[in-house]
Amino acid sequence: MAQPLTIEDLRILAKRRVPRMFYDYADSGAWTESTYRANETDFAKIKLRQRVAVDMTNRTLASTMIGETVAMPVALAPTGMTGMQHADGEILAAKAAAKAGVPFTLSTMSICSLEDIANHVGSPFWFQLYVMKDRDFSARLIERARRAGVTALVLTLDLQILGQRHKDIRNGLSAPPKPTLANLLNLATKPAWCLKMLDTPRRSFGNIVGHVTGVADMSSLSSWTADQFDPKLDWDDIKRIKEQWGGKLIIKGILDPEDAELAAQSGADALIVSNHGGRQLDGALSSIEALPEIVDQVGNRIEVHFDGGIRSGQDVIKALALGAHGTYIGRAFLYGLGAMGEAGVTRSLDIIRKELDITMALCGLRDIAAVDEKILVGGRDGAMQRLVAAG
Ligand code: GLV
Repeated sequence: MAQPLTIEDLRILAKRRVPRMFYDYADSGAWTESTYRANETDFAKIKLRQRVAVDMTNRTLASTMIGETVAMPVALAPTGMTGMQHADGEILAAKAAAKAGVPFTLSTMSICSLEDIANHVGSPFWFQLYVMKDRDFSARLIERARRAGVTALVLTLDLQILGQRHKDIRNGLSAPPKPTLANLLNLATKPAWCLKMLDTPRRSFGNIVGHVTGVADMSSLSSWTADQFDPKLDWDDIKRIKEQWGGKLIIKGILDPEDAELAAQSGADALIVSNHGGRQLDGALSSIEALPEIVDQVGNRIEVHFDGGIRSGQDVIKALALGAHGTYIGRAFLYGLGAMGEAGVTRSLDIIRKELDITMALCGLRDIAAVDEKILVGGRDGAMQRLVAAG
């Protein structure tokens, strides 16, 4: 491919370069994958109003998320095993985000550790935490995040137990991959990935390995979550973690207005409307369909962020028009990373930025802060009617 111009171009390249089990891990959802698909296809049903003969000079995409200045309202989402899409993946993605002026969020289930990001990137970042049974380990992680210069904790609530992901089960997903015949045959077709991976010491869960004892298989995300994540999680745990952390808190995984209300009452700084990229409850609403009611429910009491299905700058502007204050991309940057390392993440962000900028201009606006439902055909109600009518 001469020049990747879209996130889909990067996806195709990543599929060629990344070993199957890790490509599949990124590019899949739970059960029938209906919510995973709806996240993307629902965006396409929403139509934009073209405006003409308006001044399009001096445009700006600059905004804020939880009070931090961002070059555009698009953060990198916390994604598990990012360092398996490409060697040292989290370090490379964090560097690309810092250069682009957007937040990077490190997952608990990352390959590179909190300390790796602090030592190799040197810019502030956000850290995603799961609520775990082992409170001492959680408390230590929070302390490590503080020492690493993390400026916001992103607490994920929608993964008390892991969704059923068929491809991961069939592939025997683990980090590092087990030396089975099928894996070795597949790895043999990915020489560039293998060479880079042999050159880094970071090949398993960096925040965990060496920091906990008594877990049966630390290379397997499914056994780690089954052993460690707290299925009893409730809003008191969230309160406890908020007090322990004491800094900016973002609650991730809200899809229902009743939960949004509880999130607003929790005193968190932001919530993320999210169905975990369609990886948890298959059959749940797409994130974009869930967004407007949640915005109505919470008003200005808590900043509403959004993730799920963003594959272009157009998707970003549609989420903003339906009331999101900020957005996150997950797969959209992972494809870039798998395709081309740090340069690929930079390319993903450039693609999104350019589409966002041109779309904003062609909708007749110059400032991202001015985006609202008026850029949608039929406004918010019209957009939602189209979305539901198109099934
Ligand atoms: C982890 O966050 C996952 O969705 O795999």
